[in-house]
Amino acid sequence: MKRELTKIIKALKNYMKMEEESGMKETSLKGLIAPAKGGDIQASHGEVLYEDKTSALAELEQQVKVCHECDLYKTRRNIVFGEGNPNAPLLFIGEAPGLEEDIQGKPFVGRAGQLLTKIIKAIEMGREDVYIANCLKCRPPKNRTPYPSEIVACRNYLIQQIDIIKPKVICCLGRPAAQTLLMNDSPISKMRGKFYDYHGIKVMPTFHPAYLLRNPADKRLVWEDMKNVRDELRR
Ligand code: URA
Repeated sequence: MKRELTKIIKALKNYMKMEEESGMKETSLKGLIAPAKGGDIQASHGEVLYEDKTSALAELEQQVKVCHECDLYKTRRNIVFGEGNPNAPLLFIGEAPGLEEDIQGKPFVGRAGQLLTKIIKAIEMGREDVYIANCLKCRPPKNRTPYPSEIVACRNYLIQQIDIIKPKVICCLGRPAAQTLLMNDSPISKMRGKFYDYHGIKVMPTFHPAYLLRNPADKRLVWEDMKNVRDELRR
C-alpha cells in the first residue's frame, strides 16, 4: 500500500512537472473542460470565476461520462461524478466509488456513506449543504486500490471540481485523497489534525469513514478534526 502511494505521488509530481514544462502555468486550469459558457469571468489574475457553478459542473460531468483516460470505463456501471451543493463552503473528497456507488452513480451511499452522513450532521450540516466527490470517478474492480496511473488520469477532474466550487474548506477522507491533493506521502495518522493549504483553501485530512467502521475508537479523532473544520467555516 505504502509503495503504491509513493508511486502515486511520484507519478503526480512528474505529471505536474511535465505540464509546467509544456507551458501550463496552472495545472488546475488545464483545458480538460471547455470553459463554461456565458457566465465565465476572467479575473485580472487569470483565475476563472464561474458565475454558474451548476452548469459548469454539469458540463464537466458530461466529459467524465465519456472519459476513456484509463481502463476503468470498461468495468464501470456508472460514473460517480459527485453531488451536493455547488456553492458548498465544505467539500469532502473520498477515494473511489464502491459497489453501491457504482450501481447508484452517487458518492458515499453505502455503509461508509451512512457514517459520513452522521459526521456531516455532527457539525450541524446536511449532505445538501456540502459537496462530496472522490479522487476516482469510476469504481476499481473489486474495490482494489487505485493504480497511480488512474489517480493521475482522474486528478484533473477533481481539480476542476475544486476550481468551480471554490469551497472554503476541503476535508480529505483517508490517505489517498490527502496525498492526491497535497502530494505529501505521510500516513494519514500523521497528516490528520491540522490544516494544510491548497491554493488558499484550508485542507483538513482525516480518517476515511470505512476505516472508522473497522476502528471505531478513532471516531474521537475525527470528531476533533471536524470541530476544527466547523470552527474554520464559522470564522
Ligand atoms: N468510499 C469512497 O472513498 N468513496 C465513496 O464514494 C464510497 C466509499
